[in-house]
Amino acid sequence: MATRSSKAEDLNRAIGAECPAALSMLSARGRAIYFPYAGILGQSAEAKGKKYNATIGIALEEDKTPMRLACLMKPLAVDPAKVLPYAPSFGLPELRARWKELMLEKNPGLKGKAVSLPVVTQALTHGLAVAAYLFLEAGEEILFPEPYWDNYDLLFGVSFGARVTTFPCYAGGGFDVAGLRRVLAARRGGKIALLLNFPNNPTGYTPTESEMAGLAEALAEEAAQGSRIVAIIDDAYFGLVYEPGVARDSLFARIADAHPNLLAVKVDGATKEDYVWGLRVGFISFAAKGAGLEALAALEDKAAGSVRALISNCSHLSQTLLLEAFKSGDYAREKRAKHEVLKHRYEVLKREIETHPEYARSFAPLPYNSGYFMCLKPAPGLDAEKLRRRLLEKYDTGLIAMQGLLRIAFSSVPAGDLPTIVRNVHLACEEGRGGA
Ligand SMILES: Cc1ncc(COP(=O)(O)O)c(C=O)c1O
Repeated sequence: MATRSSKAEDLNRAIGAECPAALSMLSARGRAIYFPYAGILGQSAEAKGKKYNATIGIALEEDKTPMRLACLMKPLAVDPAKVLPYAPSFGLPELRARWKELMLEKNPGLKGKAVSLPVVTQALTHGLAVAAYLFLEAGEEILFPEPYWDNYDLLFGVSFGARVTTFPCYAGGGFDVAGLRRVLAARRGGKIALLLNFPNNPTGYTPTESEMAGLAEALAEEAAQGSRIVAIIDDAYFGLVYEPGVARDSLFARIADAHPNLLAVKVDGATKEDYVWGLRVGFISFAAKGAGLEALAALEDKAAGSVRALISNCSHLSQTLLLEAFKSGDYAREKRAKHEVLKHRYEVLKREIETHPEYARSFAPLPYNSGYFMCLKPAPGLDAEKLRRRLLEKYDTGLIAMQGLLRIAFSSVPAGDLPTIVRNVHLACEEGRGGA
C-alpha cells in the first residue's frame, strides 16, 4: 500500500508537471495533504452494493435505510437517505457539477478555460481556511485591500499565523489599481498571496469594468515579471451588482488562464447569493494557465483531504436542499426577485444621501455599488465608535463601527427605514460636533 508521503508526492508530481508555480506555493501542510482513497473511505466505496456491507460508519435500520428518529425527520419532507448519511468529503457529485455549470453561466468568460470541479466547503469561511491551509505558511504574508472583513484577521493572522498586510482599496472614486501594481512590484520575484473580495464587505464596492480589466492585467503582468501569485478570490456576494458599468463577472474568470505563475483560487458559495446563511455550503475551485485535468484534480484531492482531516465532510442535508433548489424551475426567477429587493434598498439609500447635501458635513460615503453593505466615513473629528454608541443609546439605531467607518447593512433593513437610519447618523454626527 502506498505510504502517506508517496500519496502526497503523487499529487505534488501531478501539480508540478502542469503548474510548477502552484506546487512551489503550497505550504508544508499543503504539500503533505492528500485524499485518503485507500483508507476507510476507499474500502467503504469498494464494498458499496455488496449484499453484506459492514463498512459504513453510520447506523442503518433493519431494512437498510438510514436509522432515524421520527421526530427529527417529521419537519423534513426529504428522503432520509438524502440527508442523514455522510456526504462525500468532496461534496455531493451532482451539486459540484451543478455549481460549476452555474459558475460558467454566471461567468461566460470562463468558457473553454480549465477549471477544477468545485470542492464543497462548510461555507465560505471554511473555504478560505482551506485556501490558507493549502497555501499559507505561518509567518508568510497575505495581502488584501483595506477596508476588509475583520474575520480575515482571525482566520489568516491568528489561526494560520500569516502576516497580514493591507493596502488602500481606493484612489479617488474607484479601486486603486495602480496602488496594487506598486504593492505587487515591491514583492517582485517571490511568492505573493493576495486576497480580493468583490462585492466587498464592508464597502459594498465592486470594480468597474475597466478597473476589473486593469486588475486582471496587473496580476498577469506581475506574474510575467517572475512573481508567483496565489490570488484568492472571495466571491461571497457574487452577482449582487446594482449599477451599470460595474463588472458582473468574477476576477477569477479573468485570471483563470492568464499566466502559469498565477494560480486563481475561487472561494464562493450559497451563503449570501442564495440567502442561506445557516445552511453552510460553500465551494473552493482552482485554475491556472497550464493546469490541466491532472493538476486540477490533484488540487481538488488536496482540498478534499483538508476537509476530511478537519471536518470530515459538510452537511448532507444542506447540500441536498440546495441541489433541490437549483433543480427547481422557480430558482432563477425567485433569485432575481430577491436581487431586486436588495437593489431597491441600495437605490433608496443612495437617493437619501444624494438628495441631502447637508449630510456632507457629517460623513462621506465610500464608493459603493453592490453587495449587502456600504460605509460612511465620519467627518474629521468624529469618532465612529462614539457615533455607534450614540446611535444605539439615543437613536434606537444599530450600525457596525469598524476601521474608522460606520457600516450600514442595507441588506437587512426594510427600504422604508433606510432614510431614517441615514438621518439618524447625520443627527448623531451633528450632536458629536456640538460636543454633546
Ligand atoms: C467577505 C466575506 N467573505 C466570507 C464570508 C463568510 O461567509 P460564510 O458565512 O459563508 O462563511 C463573509 C461573511 O460575512 C464575508 O463577508
